[in-house]
Amino acid sequence: MSDWPLNLAGFESAARDRLPQMVYDYYAGGALDEITLRANRDAYDEIALRYRVLVDVSRRSLATGIFGRSLETPILFAPTAFHRLACEEGEMATVRAAKELGTLMVLSSLSTVPMEQVIAEYEHVWFQLYVYRDRGLTRELVARAEAAGAAAIVLTVDAQIWGRRERDVRNQFHLPQGISVANALPGGYGDMPEREGDSGLAAYVNSLFDPALSWEDIAWLKSVTSLPVLLKGIVHPDDARLAVEHGADGVMVSNHGGRQLDTACATIRALPDVVAAVEGRAPVFVDGGIRRGTDVVKALAYGASAVFVGRPVLWGLAVGGDAGIVAAIRSLQHELDVALALCGAATPAQVTADILAPW
Ligand SMILES: Cc1cc2nc3c(=O)[nH]c(=O)nc-3n(C[C@H](O)[C@H](O)[C@H](O)COP(=O)(O)O)c2cc1C
Repeated sequence: MSDWPLNLAGFESAARDRLPQMVYDYYAGGALDEITLRANRDAYDEIALRYRVLVDVSRRSLATGIFGRSLETPILFAPTAFHRLACEEGEMATVRAAKELGTLMVLSSLSTVPMEQVIAEYEHVWFQLYVYRDRGLTRELVARAEAAGAAAIVLTVDAQIWGRRERDVRNQFHLPQGISVANALPGGYGDMPEREGDSGLAAYVNSLFDPALSWEDIAWLKSVTSLPVLLKGIVHPDDARLAVEHGADGVMVSNHGGRQLDTACATIRALPDVVAAVEGRAPVFVDGGIRRGTDVVKALAYGASAVFVGRPVLWGLAVGGDAGIVAAIRSLQHELDVALALCGAATPAQVTADILAPW
């Protein structure tokens, strides 16, 4: 099909036309004044590319290795909740797209399809964990993910208390009939009731997730799984150092796509200090506001092993199910291929920080 939108902005506007307002706002929105949401994106435009020339780029590859496994691209799927709000098949469509692209999908704890079904579909699925106050349920989620074949656990550390998302409060965001938190059904936490004058999701999270989570719990998590454990939501270099010291196998620089702490720094600004603090002891990833191939080049140049995209996957899903995601992410990959080549790099690993400059 050749009439897909031209770029990710086009996918977002097509998705907006298709989705109910409550769902579009939930996907698109951020916390409070959405300053961080905008800054994540805008910060990329503040970095110029001081490209290199006369490098043979006739043979190029986007192939990327992570934890000894080979992926076809450094553009990976960040965990996002509730895919059945965008498309009937929900996370099953997303995982099929990840497989088609040869990339990796992080499956959210808040999946609307049971994790076993999604993970069984593809070898490169990581499971994103929210820690419930009920540690028995949490432990069971980790055990189920491991038994199902997930390749890593991603612990989200920036959401102990839910960020205030005014769009969701205004819309009294809730899950429609027939859609539930499918992973938590055995624990009785599958439903997210509508709350008068509030976001149903904020009420769900604030009553069930554990705000007491602390560094000691990383050892606990590592003790209940043999999978690599990554920490997602780090922006401070001291936290990056602590993450590695507590045994994290990877660090994801993220501010939850601007949905948690508004005025949190743009992730691409946080990345260089985190990379320096980690000192090569673990891979570092980044997400937030990546919408153009040149954004990916900048993240790789600062030392990210790969990048994650959140909303672009949802826009593709809303526009055309798995085929829509493949088309959306291919448009970004195409831009990345061109940008890398024009920077004088034939592979992601060849990009270095010296090509980044102020305007
Ligand atoms: C609709 C939506 C739902 C999300 N759900 C989760 C989630 O369940 N777990 C999580 O760790 N992060 C979640 N995130 C954050 C993403 O993993 C990621 O950090 C963010 O979307 C990256 O920014 P981008 O959307 O600008 O690419 C969500 C983001 C969005 C937009």
